[in-house]
Amino acid sequence: MRSRRQKIKDFLTFPLRALILFHDDRWGLSSLASERFDYVASEVQGYCLDIGCGYSNRFVREYLGGHGVGIDVYPYAGLTEENLVPDLTHLPFADHSFDTVTFIANLNHAPESQRDAELAEAFRVLRPGGRIIVTMGLPWVEILVHKLVWFYDRFLGINVDMDSERGMQEGESYFLTEDEICLRLTRAGFQHIVRKPFWTQWGLNRMYLARKPP
Ligand SMILES: C[S@@+](CC[C@H](N)C(=O)[O-])C[C@H]1O[C@@H](n2cnc3c(N)ncnc32)[C@H](O)[C@@H]1O
Repeated sequence: MRSRRQKIKDFLTFPLRALILFHDDRWGLSSLASERFDYVASEVQGYCLDIGCGYSNRFVREYLGGHGVGIDVYPYAGLTEENLVPDLTHLPFADHSFDTVTFIANLNHAPESQRDAELAEAFRVLRPGGRIIVTMGLPWVEILVHKLVWFYDRFLGINVDMDSERGMQEGESYFLTEDEICLRLTRAGFQHIVRKPFWTQWGLNRMYLARKPP
């Protein structure tokens, strides 16, 4: 967990970090990835399934001490066979296997026609009373960040754009609106949706917490 002092430093340097620190911490500052993992980890309860885990299954390994499972559709560096689940609408887990399910910065990458089915699967594998956490930046921020990382990769070759590496599929989006997230969570059966902004990112990014009924 970041200290209060670290959070103040991150808050004050957010514009700089948003331009250059996507995955790796540097100069005593948190990257955007570390920051979102830190916020989400503080809300995870019990055994966690991290859907769309990305590079190295980092959230579960580093932020939850391995207490969970990270899965992804693409074999990013640092993932093994166990992390790969090509169809996230059919998860290889029994009903009620997890206390928390997370979609960190990625529900927009579920093709539109598949989003409800992925949330329905998340609902199925969660125990009654379990928690789902979805993070998503404001639409204009998501568009800007996606364009920025694409530009850096294309012209500077620094390889920070996970989505270009995988190749965006038809039906994926660069962002989701708050209305869509809440509507889809409700449609899947989740209740008590609460929105929490990431204050060290000036409220431009946020998480949505909801519960499966007991
Ligand atoms: C921007 S990255 C975020 C990765 C990681 N969760 C993080 O916060 O760093 C988007 C992730 O969504 C994953 N993804 C691709 N298709 C998906 C799908 N249908 N449902 C959920 N995630 C998907 C990608 O493979 C990638 O790991």
